[in-house]
Amino acid sequence: MEYTNIIKRINNKICYITINRPKFLNALNNATITELSSVIKSIKEDKSVRCVIITGAEKKAFVAGADIKEFALFDKKQGNALSKNGHDNLFNLIENLNIPCIAAINGFALGGGLELAMASHIRVASVNAKLGLPEVTLGVIPGYGGTQRLPQLVGKGVAFEMITTGKMISAEEALKLGLVNKVCSQEELVETCEKIAQRIINNSPSAISKAIKSINACYKSGVDGFDTEIELFGSCFETEDFEKGTKAFMEKRKPNYN
Ligand code: CAA
Repeated sequence: MEYTNIIKRINNKICYITINRPKFLNALNNATITELSSVIKSIKEDKSVRCVIITGAEKKAFVAGADIKEFALFDKKQGNALSKNGHDNLFNLIENLNIPCIAAINGFALGGGLELAMASHIRVASVNAKLGLPEVTLGVIPGYGGTQRLPQLVGKGVAFEMITTGKMISAEEALKLGLVNKVCSQEELVETCEKIAQRIINNSPSAISKAIKSINACYKSGVDGFDTEIELFGSCFETEDFEKGTKAFMEKRKPNYN
C-alpha cells in the first residue's frame, strides 16, 4: 500500500511510524486509520522488525484525536461504524501485536491520539506533551477504547475524572498517574524510545510475544489470565529461543537472539 498520511521507516530492527498530517495536528481521519492498519499488519508478517516506535510529525502534536471535521455530520450508524472500524482494524491490532509498540508522545495526545498511545504497550512523553480525552466537550464519548484502557492504566477514579471533565494533563502528571512510563525532553524523545527498544531487541522475540499475550489476557473477558500464562509458559519450552537462552546462561554468556 502507498502511504500518504504516514511515514514508515525500518532501521536496526525498529519500525518507525510517523503520523504525518501536521497541518491538522496529525488527526486520525479514515485514510490514516486505514494506512496505520495496513502498516501494522505488514509489521506482523515481517520477522526482521522487533519493535515499533509510533509518533506524530513535527513538534506540536502526537495526534489531536479522531478527525472531527470528518465525523461532524455522521449519524448513529456511521458513528458505530467509525468506532468499530477503529477497534477492529487498528487499536486492537496494536494491543495484540506480537512485538512491543512504543508510543513516542511528542505533543498533544488527545481523544483518539491518547487512545492510540494507550493501545500501545509502552508510552514515553516529551515534557511539552498534553494528554486528555476531551470527547465529552464535543458531545461524544471516547470511541477508540478510551473508556476501557484508561481505567486499566490509571484506575477507575482518575479515569472518571479525566473523561467527565475532559481536561488535559501534563506529561509530569501523566507520569505520576502511571499513564506514561517516562518523560524526557522533546530532543531526547526518540533516543529514549530507542534505548527501550534496544533492550527489547536483545531479548527472546518468542518469549516477548507470549508475554504480550499473557499480559493482555488479564483484561480479556471470559479468559482466565492465569490459565493463559500456564499454557504459554509451557509452550516456551519447545522454542529455539528457550534453548538459546538457557544454554547461554549455563555457558555464562549473553544469548544472541538476532
Ligand atoms: N480533528 C480535525 N482537525 C483538527 C483536530 C481534530 N481532532 N485537532 C486539530 N485540528 C486542526 C484544526 O482544526 C486546525 O485546522 P484549521 O487551521 O484548518 O482550522 C489545525 O488542526 C490546528 O489546530 P488549532 O488551530 O485548533 O490549534 P490550537 O493550537 O489552537 O489548539 C488543540 C490545539 C487544543 C489540540 C485543538 O486543536 C483541539 O482542541 N483539537 C481537538 C482535540 C479533540 O477534541 N480531540 C478529540 C477528537 S474526538 C475523538 O478522538 C473521538 C474518538 O475517541 C474516536
